[in-house]
Amino acid sequence: MRIDVVSIFPEYLAPLELSLIGKARQDGILDLHVHDLRSYTTDRHRTVDDTPYGGGAGMVMKPEPWSQALTAVAEARPGHGGKPVLIVPSPAGERFTQALAHELAVEEHLAFACGRYEGIDERVIEWAGDHFDVRPVSLGDYVLNGGEVAVLAMVEAVGRLLPGVVGNPESLVEESHSDGLLEYPVYTKPAVWRDREVPAILLSGNHGKIAQWRRHEQFRRTSERRPDLLEVFDAGKLPKADRLALQELGYDIVDGRPVRRQGTAEPAG
Ligand code: ADE
Repeated sequence: MRIDVVSIFPEYLAPLELSLIGKARQDGILDLHVHDLRSYTTDRHRTVDDTPYGGGAGMVMKPEPWSQALTAVAEARPGHGGKPVLIVPSPAGERFTQALAHELAVEEHLAFACGRYEGIDERVIEWAGDHFDVRPVSLGDYVLNGGEVAVLAMVEAVGRLLPGVVGNPESLVEESHSDGLLEYPVYTKPAVWRDREVPAILLSGNHGKIAQWRRHEQFRRTSERRPDLLEVFDAGKLPKADRLALQELGYDIVDGRPVRRQGTAEPAG
């Protein structure tokens, strides 16, 4: 996969040289290029922003440097497939999820346009649609100073799904959000630490029981911490043990979705 990132702070993307993503680049799995937006300016001051039409606080990123930078990125497209995907990190975008990470991980070419200040002139986003499949994407309902931190998160989430990046691909299967539920709790040695014992079932050697316990913990945690995930969880074809686990936690399955039984307490937290 090729990834291009355009930013006025290319140094912000330095962590992408480290750890698994850094190794994926060395191994040729990920061909990642970071571009300084200012190198696409033509004036002496390398200007990338200006005051907003209509007034208001802050500055807006000028269209011209962006069109130059994005044209260069579009022309660097490997192969002859469809349009590259251009992610524009923005708190006003669609939510970034594990499902979107999987969708992006099969693309040949991703580009990221890191806005700063109040954002990029909207005409750039419209124009870019001629060359890219443009997707404004938000990391969550909070505001960052710019897109760079969001790009670090998204490149890591997508990059680790590329074949060969995570050593044991099984660890991608049993993790939070891979099946719409949160991950079960994990423990390692010693079996007793500061008077706290590892749940006895995990020492039993009974792998069927362990799997059942872990599944129950997934439902319990999701119910406690992220009831919104359970509301949309597809419980239509669940095995009996899973249905029982949900019932024990106070849920009935109605039209294939877990629904909290009347009279059961809201989960803590
Ligand atoms: N830029 C500023 N805030 C952001 C957010 N929440 N997600 C993605 N990009 C952003």
